Amino acid sequence: MKTQVVIIGAGPSGLLLGQLLQNAGIGNVILERQSPDYVLERIRAGILEQGTVDLLREAGVAKRMDAEGLVHEGVEFLFDGRRIPVPLKELTGGKTVMVYGQTEVTRDLMEARKEAEGVSFYNVGNVQLFDLKGDSPYVTFEKHGETCRIDCDFIAGCDGFHGVSRQAIPGDILREYERVYPFGWLGLLSDTPPVNHELIYAHHERGFVLCNQRSLTRSRYYLQVPLTDGVEAWSDDRFWSELKRRLPQALADKLVTGHSLEKSIAPLRSFVVEPMQYGNLFLVGDAAHIVPPTGAKGLNLAASDVNYLYRILRKVYFEGRRDLLESYSPMALRRVWKGERFSWFMTNLLHDFAGQNEFDRKMQQADREYYLGSRAGLTTIAENYVGLPFEEVR
Ligand code: APR
Ligand code: PHB
Repeated sequence: MKTQVVIIGAGPSGLLLGQLLQNAGIGNVILERQSPDYVLERIRAGILEQGTVDLLREAGVAKRMDAEGLVHEGVEFLFDGRRIPVPLKELTGGKTVMVYGQTEVTRDLMEARKEAEGVSFYNVGNVQLFDLKGDSPYVTFEKHGETCRIDCDFIAGCDGFHGVSRQAIPGDILREYERVYPFGWLGLLSDTPPVNHELIYAHHERGFVLCNQRSLTRSRYYLQVPLTDGVEAWSDDRFWSELKRRLPQALADKLVTGHSLEKSIAPLRSFVVEPMQYGNLFLVGDAAHIVPPTGAKGLNLAASDVNYLYRILRKVYFEGRRDLLESYSPMALRRVWKGERFSWFMTNLLHDFAGQNEFDRKMQQADREYYLGSRAGLTTIAENYVGLPFEEVR
C-alpha cells in the first residue's frame, strides 16, 4: 500500500490532521492501536481556544460545536474567599473560548472521516517506522495477525505520550525537558447543572478547585489531591463535601450534587521534547509535549502543531516548498513553550506545594495579588487563556 502521509494515532491530533489533509486532496492513512469506542471513552479538558475553533471550522467539522458549544466571554478566579472575574473578551479585543468537550471534538472528527471515506485502521499492533532519514520512509503494522506495509512521503507521529513515534528518534538527538508536580487532580463528571455559568479556578488552603461544565446540565469538577490517594478513597459523598469546603459559602449553597458518571485521578506533568522533527517524521500533540491541565492547553497545543504541519505540507505538495519542512519544529516549539509556560504559571499560582517555605508562599500570594489585581496582570492571563496568535507559514 502507498500513501502520501501516514498518521500514527487517531486522537484529536491525528484525526484533525487527517481531515485537513483529506480536504486538501493530500492522501493519508491513519493507524490506531485502540478501537474507536476506546478512543471515545477518554475524558479530557473541554476548553477550545479561538484558534482551535477556527481550525475546526476550516476543517469543516464545526457544525455540532457551533450549535452545542458554549461560548464563554470570561472566567473567574477565586482566592482568599474573593471572586475575581476575568473578562476575556473585553481584555483581548473580542476573543472568547468555546466550552466543548474533547470527546465531542473527537466524535465529530471520526464522523467526518467516515463521510470523507478516509482510510483508517483501528486495533492495529506493533507499528514500526522505517527509513526516516531516507527517500523511502515506510511503516509496518499488524492487523488480524498479518504484517502490512505502507510506503509514504511523510509520517506524522500523533500517537500521544505513550506512542512509538517519539521512540523512533535516536536518543542522542532527542532532548527531554520535564517537571512532575507533587499532586494530582481528582475529576468528577455528573449530570447536574453547573454551579456557575463561567469556569472557576480557585486557590484554597485545602487544595485547588476547578468548576467547569460540559453543557447546561452536565458539570465537571476537579479537586487537588495527594498523589498517594487512590480514586477508591473518594466516594461521591466525600468528593462533594470536600468541594463545598473549598468553595465560598454562597457557591457551596448553590452546588447541586449527584452521582458521578466518571471519576479519576490524573497526575500533573510538564514535558517537552526537542526537536519535533527527525527526517520525514513529524511529532504532533501529546507525542511531543504534555502540559498540566491548569489552563486547558493540551488539546489546543495539539491543534497548534496540526495547524503548522498542515500548512507546511500543503505548501510542500502544491508549491514545491520542501525548504519549509525544517521550519516545522522551531515554529511549533515556539508556541508550545509559551503554552507550557502558561500552564506551569497557572499551576504554580493556584496550588500549594508540599515543602514550600514561607518565602515561597509569600511570593505566590504576591503573584496572585498582582496578576489578579491589576489590569495588566489580568490581560496577561486573558491573552494566554484565549490562545496566543499563530505565526504565518510563508
Ligand atoms: N500505534 C498506534 N496508535 C497508537 C500507538 C501506537 N503504538 N500508541 C498510541 N496510539 C494512539 C492512542 O491509542 C491514542 O488514540 O495514539 C492516540 C494518541 O491520542 P492522544 O493521546 O489523545 O494524543 P493527541 O491526539 O496528541 O491529543 C492531544 O489529548 O491527552 C490529551 O491533553 C491532551 O487534549 C490533548 C490531546
Ligand atoms: C475540563 O473541563 O475538564 C477542564 C477545563 C479547564 C481546565 C482543565 C480541565 O483548565
